[in-house]
Amino acid sequence: MKAIILSGGKGTRLRPLTYTGAKQLVPVANKPILWYGIESIVAAGITEIGIIISPETGAEVQAKTGDGERFGAKITYILQDQPLGLAHAVKIAQPFLADSPFVMYLGDNLVESQLDLFLDQFKTQNLDALTLLCEVENPSAFGVAKVDQQGKVLRLIEKPQNPPSNLALVGVYIFAKTIHHAIANIEPSARGELEITDAIQYLIDQQQKVGSFRLSGWWLDTGKKDDLLAANQIILDSCLESSSQGSVDEQSKVTGRVSIGGGSKIINSNIRGPVTIGDNCHIENCFIGPFSSIASETTLIEADIEHSVVLKGAKIVHIQQRIVDSLIGERAQLKPATQRPKALRFMIGDDSQIELI
Ligand code: G1P
Repeated sequence: MKAIILSGGKGTRLRPLTYTGAKQLVPVANKPILWYGIESIVAAGITEIGIIISPETGAEVQAKTGDGERFGAKITYILQDQPLGLAHAVKIAQPFLADSPFVMYLGDNLVESQLDLFLDQFKTQNLDALTLLCEVENPSAFGVAKVDQQGKVLRLIEKPQNPPSNLALVGVYIFAKTIHHAIANIEPSARGELEITDAIQYLIDQQQKVGSFRLSGWWLDTGKKDDLLAANQIILDSCLESSSQGSVDEQSKVTGRVSIGGGSKIINSNIRGPVTIGDNCHIENCFIGPFSSIASETTLIEADIEHSVVLKGAKIVHIQQRIVDSLIGERAQLKPATQRPKALRFMIGDDSQIELI
């Protein structure tokens, strides 16, 4: 069994962050989203992993993730030079995959369940494809499945206006080599892409065995800010362990599960977990509330922040109001120019959103 992880795409829904970086590298609980996928694949015993990259962000993904040694895997990078769809990504990965069955994992998806369960079902039912399904409130935003009582997939439709069910296709699939023949026989969709949904539908039409697994745990597609914050909350809630390699002075109060990276200084501040703080941060006279992830090398002075993600090198200084539900980009600076500011002065990147609430 091999695996491919798709880490291309433009990340339009996470702009402006994705103007400068790959959406799969945006951190959740201070770890790139992509790495959760790699770890869960390795945990299922699969160590030959192909990562599909794009010309725009491929070098960054490769530089940050490396050859796989740190995960106990062997990573091969495969360049998809145009965003021509998920099935197209499988097509260009065919030399890497050869005849092996494989897991396909969308690099911006996070699932709670371990992959072993799905792999077992795929093997014992001798399937050509296993889809993971999850009930959602907005099925039109996803691929949607119609299944019979036994869980057999009858029909799949990509982003339907009138969804036949509320069962969305999760971005984790398992395929036998028969998928390559299916992909060779489909045409690009209306959005000009070779859709994996259409390839699976082709298998169904050819009476091949397509099964489904209903997820009961959480699944997050982190393509948008609120989904990313939700993922951050869930990961901090379920996986964070307390640790402190930094320094916390006597005036500070740290409660709940909090991890503090090496070289970070916490001065006269109140940190209420779950909170993760990276390396070499300076945090002074602050309140940092639950479900916040503060990346390395950030400076927070007289700031009050909760349920937010702050990326590397950001500076938040002397902000009187509480910052909530926010995603602050790398090296962004929030600071008043005078002691009692009476006006707001901005330099904000394209597609940014500022809400005064
Ligand atoms: C893709 C798939 C869709 C699936 C979704 C899950 O959509 O085409 O069927 O439900 O991933 O994240 P995209 O994110 O490319 O719009």
